[in-house]
Amino acid sequence: MRVAVLASGSGSNFQALLDACRETEQATVVLLATNRADAGAVDRAHRAGVPVHVIGNVADGAAIREALDAQSVDLVVLAGYLKLVPADVVAAYEHRMINIHPALLPAFGGRGMYGRKVHEAVLASGATVSGATVHLVSTEYDRGPIIAQWPVAVRAGDTPETLQQRVLAVEHQLLPAVVLAAARAGGIVRLLPGEPNFCVSADRRPLSSTLTAGP
Ligand code: GRF
Repeated sequence: MRVAVLASGSGSNFQALLDACRETEQATVVLLATNRADAGAVDRAHRAGVPVHVIGNVADGAAIREALDAQSVDLVVLAGYLKLVPADVVAAYEHRMINIHPALLPAFGGRGMYGRKVHEAVLASGATVSGATVHLVSTEYDRGPIIAQWPVAVRAGDTPETLQQRVLAVEHQLLPAVVLAAARAGGIVRLLPGEPNFCVSADRRPLSSTLTAGP
């Protein structure tokens, strides 16, 4: 499965995906597309030898499709991509485009809900559980059917930063798990805890035990 990643920021999820794909022949990251030439993700791509496409106009769907099509992309992963994907790109990659969000959607998502703001909103609400969500991309921010979720408990004394850190650690496992499961299945599959697909690596180590031992 040929995977393209769209990212605007530091690209730690992109890195997690690169690392996971190194362990398997079933999925390869073939492109990083970004709207920010100075994004940390670009340095990571260069280090890994992954081609970079800088999106000049984020509303120009034809140009984005051209970049994806040129690499024969099977799956598009939004990992910290802060712009709305044009409707024609969403349509062209229907059921083949996913996004990761640092909260349990459908709560705490939508326009303007990114980065620290998400975790501030979770803490301000008094919610005792947050987490990470992977969902299919639609033409609205953070909407589209949910593919996988993993909860993260809010702790007494949490700050937006401490919560963000624990959620990010979970994201780094959940996103590769979804991509590797899609690669094995030949298309995106929902992951439910306890099911065989709910594993993090090519050796099918269960994600749940990894996470329990983790953050
Ligand atoms: C992650 O929290 C992701 O869920 C959100 O943006 C952040 C990107 O972080 N969509 P990174 O660039 O992968 O470190």
